Amino acid sequence: MAFLDKHAAIEKHATLLLVLSFLVVTIGGLVQIVPLFYLENTIEKVEGVRPYTPLELAGRDIYIREGCYVCHSQMIRPMRDEVERYGPYSLAAESMYDHPFQWGSKRTGPDLARVGGRYSDSWHVDHLINPQAVVPESVMPKYSFLANAEIDGRYIADVMSTHAFVGVPYTTEMIEAAVEDFKAQADPNADSTGLQERYAKTNVSNFDGQAALTEMDALIAYLQVLGTMVDFSTFTPDASR
Ligand code: HEC
Repeated sequence: MAFLDKHAAIEKHATLLLVLSFLVVTIGGLVQIVPLFYLENTIEKVEGVRPYTPLELAGRDIYIREGCYVCHSQMIRPMRDEVERYGPYSLAAESMYDHPFQWGSKRTGPDLARVGGRYSDSWHVDHLINPQAVVPESVMPKYSFLANAEIDGRYIADVMSTHAFVGVPYTTEMIEAAVEDFKAQADPNADSTGLQERYAKTNVSNFDGQAALTEMDALIAYLQVLGTMVDFSTFTPDASR
């Protein structure tokens, strides 16, 4: 066929093949990318998703510092085996306030996107202090030192301001109350009305079970909120998109 004869010319001419391939890839790329610039929002707004509390945010920093993401992903893919094991698949909105996101690329341990509320605080304490005492075959390292590392949240307002700068809706009021909220979340005897008003459905608990406020408190506060913000008994995906 005449058409195929012409194609043979392209296949035998490296430069022509390169130029034409580039052209085809460019068109394909534009078709995919350009519409995104005309969408008002690529992330569906989902009820319940709120910024992290100051203590959860500090816990998230510890999670990143300790490299938990090296072994744990935080993204449940919409595939049957994952949904049956971990729960509803992750929504884009659930990580919209994560800078940087913690989707991860490797699972040496289980996905943690919905670990919040799955275990008690004291289970997490035992597990973080000595994972092998809870799961004998575990290869997870021990993080007992977190229970001795006291924190007071003196830097947390700055961290929140930085997150606000990149688009997380922390208000001036939230930033001003940062240290107060930071401490109130780990102290069931403190007045946490302000904290609850600023951050819906916040877990208040003495997470690590000891008097001092430690990195262990912050990390467990973070683990316990993961995947719990959206109420999946009432959530229905927006089918208009
Ligand atoms: C070397 C890899 C590795 C690192 C690093 C690691 N973990 Fe794990 N983690 C595992 C493995 C393997 C398991 C499964 C066995 C177990 O429960 O210990 C696990 C289990 C867990 C579980 C229980 C999850 C479930 O659904 O049962 C939690 C929570 C957890 N890890 C949190 C953390 C946190 C927080 C950090 C960082 C401070 C961390 N892990 C660092 C490997 C790791």
